[in-house]
Amino acid sequence: MRFDGRDYNEIRDTEMKIGVISKADGSAYCRTGNTIAIAAVYLKPGREQSNLKVSYRMLPFAGEERKGLGLTRREIELSYIIAKALEPAIIFEEIPYLTIEASVEIIKADAGTRVAAINALSLALAHAGIPMKALVGAIAVGKVGEKIVLDLNKQEEDYDSEIIKKELPQYYEYYGEGKAVDIPMAMYKNKITLLQLDGSIDRKSLLEAIKLGKDGIKRMIDLQKIAIEDYYF
Ligand code: CDP
Repeated sequence: MRFDGRDYNEIRDTEMKIGVISKADGSAYCRTGNTIAIAAVYLKPGREQSNLKVSYRMLPFAGEERKGLGLTRREIELSYIIAKALEPAIIFEEIPYLTIEASVEIIKADAGTRVAAINALSLALAHAGIPMKALVGAIAVGKVGEKIVLDLNKQEEDYDSEIIKKELPQYYEYYGEGKAVDIPMAMYKNKITLLQLDGSIDRKSLLEAIKLGKDGIKRMIDLQKIAIEDYYF
C-alpha cells in the first residue's frame, strides 16, 4: 500500500464544484487530497483574435514553507504552461473580440497543483459559457521508486529510497529503490495538451505511466461532468 493507503491506480479523494465565486463570469473549485485550486474566469472585450490569459498563483501559506509575496519564476512558467494546456480545446472562432482572463489560486499545495489548476480552469471556462471542443482533464502520474503510480502526493514526489529504507522500511518494501519521477499530463478527447517529465525513466515505464495517466484523466473528466450536472440539474 502507498503512504496514504491507496492502490497504485487510485486517485486521491477529489471534489469539484462550479459557481463558487459569484462575481466571476465562470468559477470552479477543485480539491484533490490536500491540494486545493480555485479558478475564476472574467470575459473582457478584446481584439478580433480572441485570447486566453492565465495567472497561476500559489498563496504564501499554501505549502509547507511560507512563500514570498512576489510572483516566482515557477508561477510565471506554470501560468504559460497551463494556458497552453487549455487553449487547444477552446473554439476561439466562435467568440471573436474576447479576452478570457483566467486566474487560479492554489490555496493548499500537496503536489499536483498545476493539474488541479487545469481541472478547475476547465470547469470555470465551461461555466463561463466558453465554447470548447471538450473538457480538459489533468492528472500527474509517475514512478516512485520502482512503482508506477497515479496522482502522486508530496510525500511520494519527495521519495528517496535511501531515507525511506531507514525511516519507513515497510514503504521501502512497497516502492523499492530510487527516487520519484513526476509526469503531469492534460488531455481533451484523445489529445494530449500537457506532458512534462522531471527526472529520468525508461521507455517501458514511461509508456505504462502514460497509459495509467490517461485512465486517471478520464476519471477527472467524469468528475468535472458530475460537477456540471450537480450545478445545473
Ligand atoms: O504542484 P506541482 O506538482 O504541479 O508542481 P511542482 O513545482 O512539482 O511542486 C510540487 C509540490 O511542491 C507542490 O505541489 C507543493 O506541494 C510543493 N511546493 C511548495 O510547497 N512550495 C513551492 N514554492 C513550490 C512547490
